[in-house]
Amino acid sequence: MRVIATERLTLEPQVAAHADEMFAVLSAPAIYEHENQPPPSVEWLRERFGRLESRRSADGHEQWLNWVIRLRAAELIGYVQATVFPTGRAAIAYVMASRYWGRGLAREACEAMLGELVASYEVRNAHAVFKRDNLRSLRLLERLGFAPAAPEAYVGPDELLMTRKLAPA
Ligand SMILES: CC(C)(COP(=O)(O)OP(=O)(O)OC[C@H]1O[C@@H](n2cnc3c(N)ncnc32)[C@H](O)[C@@H]1OP(=O)(O)O)[C@@H](O)C(=O)NCCC(=O)NCCS
Repeated sequence: MRVIATERLTLEPQVAAHADEMFAVLSAPAIYEHENQPPPSVEWLRERFGRLESRRSADGHEQWLNWVIRLRAAELIGYVQATVFPTGRAAIAYVMASRYWGRGLAREACEAMLGELVASYEVRNAHAVFKRDNLRSLRLLERLGFAPAAPEAYVGPDELLMTRKLAPA
C-alpha cells in the first residue's frame, strides 16, 4: 500500500502504531448515530489494526485495504477502507471525526482512494452499503458519482446499495 497525498490530506496505510491516536478519533459518539459502536479499548484497537496489517481476508481471497486520514502535517481525523474482491469489485467505507464534517474532506479522501483502487488494484466497480437514514453518507456517495442499485442478498431492508463504475470492463 502507498501513502496518498491530496490537496488537504495525507492517506497513510493503517498500522498498529496508529491505534492510540485513532482511539480518540473513533471514541466520539456522533460517528455511531446510524451503525456500529466505538472500540472497547485502545488495546483492542491496536490488536485489530495489527491483524489488519496482513491486508487480506482470513481465506486470502480478498484484499483488505485501510488508510487513516491525516490533515496534512497535523492530526488524524478518520479513515477510509476498501475490500477488493478478485472480480475487480470493491466495497468502500469511510468514517470521519464529526468536527471535520461539512468541509468536503470525506469526499477528498474517498476520491483519492477510488483513484488508487483503479491505478494500483485493478478495481473497475465500487459499491457501498449503508443505513437508509444516514443522509450524510447518501449525499457523500451522490457527490462521488454513485447511484442506487438493486439490493443484493447481503443488503438489509434498512440499508441501501449504491454503485459506481470506475473503469471499463
Ligand atoms: C459519512 C461522512 C464521512 C460524511 O462526511 P461529510 O463531512 O458530510 O462529507 P464531505 O466531506 O463530503 O462534506 C460534505 C459537505 O461539505 C461541503 N463542502 C464544503 N467545502 C467543500 C469542498 N471543498 N468540497 C466538497 N464539499 C465541500 C459540501 O457542500 C457538503 O455539504 P452538503 O452535504 O450539505 O452538500 C461522515 O458523516 C461520517 O463520518 N459519518 C459517521 C460514519 C458513517 O456513518 N460512515 C458511513 C458508513 S460506511
